[in-house]
Amino acid sequence: MELYLDTSDVQAVKKLAAIFPLAGVTTNPSIVAAGKKPLEVLLPELLEALGGQGRLFAQVMATQAEEMVEEARKLRAIVSHLVVKVPVTPQGLAAIKLLKAEGIPTLGTAVYGAAQGMFSALAGADYVAPYVNRVDAQGGDGIQTVVELQQLLTLHAPHAKVLAASFKTPRQALDCLLAGCESITLPLDVAQQMISYPAVDAAVAKFEQDWMGAFGRKSI
Ligand code: E4P
Repeated sequence: MELYLDTSDVQAVKKLAAIFPLAGVTTNPSIVAAGKKPLEVLLPELLEALGGQGRLFAQVMATQAEEMVEEARKLRAIVSHLVVKVPVTPQGLAAIKLLKAEGIPTLGTAVYGAAQGMFSALAGADYVAPYVNRVDAQGGDGIQTVVELQQLLTLHAPHAKVLAASFKTPRQALDCLLAGCESITLPLDVAQQMISYPAVDAAVAKFEQDWMGAFGRKSI
């Protein structure tokens, strides 16, 4: 599986890259805007925080296909192996087709429906990002959307991967992985929650207390 962090926090990426088997970092315009660093500065820093290896994702801002393609080329000039995020609108689908013809890898983003996501894959997207929590927040079923999208890609566009996104809880992320998603992107808080259990700290403290009681030191 491929695990990504959904963030523009370079220091956090550096810290968590030592803990998690990160495949890379995803961003979106809101995430980049929150960090206030232009992409020409941010993307190289993120790559360095990953140890010089790893996949980066950044999104085009244009809304017309030809302009999206222009922006995609600019993003790839910053990081040559970057995957370009394209919102799955009618113009976005046209851009994904053009980018596929140029050999530029894409991710279909802002996916709220399984059919919408499938069409981005059929247009040539390498990744498709369903927005799990945002679908839930609209009264839909984010996990069910992912389950259906995963089935559709397996059946009809096996070259493409679901990169499940928009999580507020570890449970949502686990359900996507159990549904067979090959890749997910987690916000920092959800990633940390997935390995944080108060009972673990208590268990380790009790081991230490028992050891100290017997041997008067913490080491073996
Ligand atoms: C990824 O492609 C999305 O931009 C991101 O995961 C959205 O997350 P949010 O719904 O928490 O903003």
